[in-house]
Amino acid sequence: MKLWGGRFTKETNELVHNFNASIGFDQKFYRQDIRGSIAHVTMLAKQGILTEEERERIVSGLRSIEADIASGALEITGEHEDIHSFVEAHLIARIGDAGKKLHTGRSRNDQVALDMKLYVRDEVEELKTLLMQLMNTMQRLMEEHLDTYMPGFTHLQKAQPVTLSHHLGAYMEMFKRDYDRLLDLRRRMNYCPLGAGALAGTTYPLDRAYTAELLGFDGPTLNSMDSVSDRDYLLELLSALSILMMHLSRFCEEIILWNSNEYRFIELDDAYSTGSSIMPQKKNPDIAELIRGKTGRVYGALTSLLTTMKGIPLAYNKDMQEDKELSFDAIDTAKGCLSLFDGMLSTAVFRKEQMKKSAVGGFTNATDAADYLVNHGVPFRDAHGMIGQLVLLCIEKNCALDDLTLEEFRSVSPVFDSDIYDAISLSTCVEKRNTVGAPGKQAMEQILQKNREQLAVWAKL
Ligand code: ARG
Repeated sequence: MKLWGGRFTKETNELVHNFNASIGFDQKFYRQDIRGSIAHVTMLAKQGILTEEERERIVSGLRSIEADIASGALEITGEHEDIHSFVEAHLIARIGDAGKKLHTGRSRNDQVALDMKLYVRDEVEELKTLLMQLMNTMQRLMEEHLDTYMPGFTHLQKAQPVTLSHHLGAYMEMFKRDYDRLLDLRRRMNYCPLGAGALAGTTYPLDRAYTAELLGFDGPTLNSMDSVSDRDYLLELLSALSILMMHLSRFCEEIILWNSNEYRFIELDDAYSTGSSIMPQKKNPDIAELIRGKTGRVYGALTSLLTTMKGIPLAYNKDMQEDKELSFDAIDTAKGCLSLFDGMLSTAVFRKEQMKKSAVGGFTNATDAADYLVNHGVPFRDAHGMIGQLVLLCIEKNCALDDLTLEEFRSVSPVFDSDIYDAISLSTCVEKRNTVGAPGKQAMEQILQKNREQLAVWAKL
């Protein structure tokens, strides 16, 4: 059934119908479509455009359609162009003439703009819940691993020792920004486009502020042409999700490295690993790899929608229908990745001893050895050179700085004393670093406290 058959003399070509139709995917927001329609008719009745009785019939008809779709009693079928036509056709079939008044003062252009905003708003809440769960897991692991030493890397070369808590803390900062971006998105998008009509408002005395209020918006949008053609909020969502996925992907990359035979920093749980069909010994980090891989899809959605939008003249054009599959896919992908990542991380076993062993090797305390000399009056540049010589000696002897004898230390500078061993021990190297944001326990406790407060504030919003 078509909403617009009146001025046509021929049936639509079947391929055209299929190419044009969006019902295959926009049925995803049937709930939001019905919610929007109920608000619309409530406003129409308040304004005297519909009678109270008409409103009641329409609302109960819409509710019965929603319940029947949810239970499976009413199947969404392909002869309708989109979910808006589907719901309207079934409403008319169920309640008769009153149903024909539903679309008074409305166009599918402002309707779809509303539905998509409502859908995104709901989905952002789910994304926030999943991200919050992940941040809670992160916080727990950070609290647990304040003393789990590991090497920190630059250029993927061992650099200075840190703790696992500190390393995880870096991702925690990223996730906090991701959460904040999701919150921020709502502030800008939360204005109601309904009442914009096709592009130029309507002649009916609509109360747009009332509809906006009924649907939990901060007010109506302010330009009817912009209302029906604005997709900025989707681009913002896709950017926020792309950045989030980039963070998950980097983390996954590290998990893949850490889970390798070479690192052996962690062992993924069997439930979150897969095997090989030919090599019996294999236990592969497929989930981490898939999350890393799916990041490309979400970037693709962002690039695709940016490209779609760049040449569209005002106001609504059918190109915009392309926003849906992209956004749905990106949202579902991000949600799936967030929950699987949380499961994978919270069940992984961290091999503390192996991490510590790795932190002791690789001269991660070389900077601290140079600092020791500086504290004894040696200029930093000279100290750097002297420790470089000692590193060379260690490489020759295949040992760590900690293994050198005091004599060997003194061979490059007489200021070395027996307290050098303590000065370059793993725990000293970490625990002395207590500037804000550093890995020392004292500094980390402050950050953990800040996180706790922040998570509590967000949980209450
Ligand atoms: N399916 C359309 C979309 O997703 C709904 C709006 C249709 N409006 C129109 N004038 N054809 O954008």
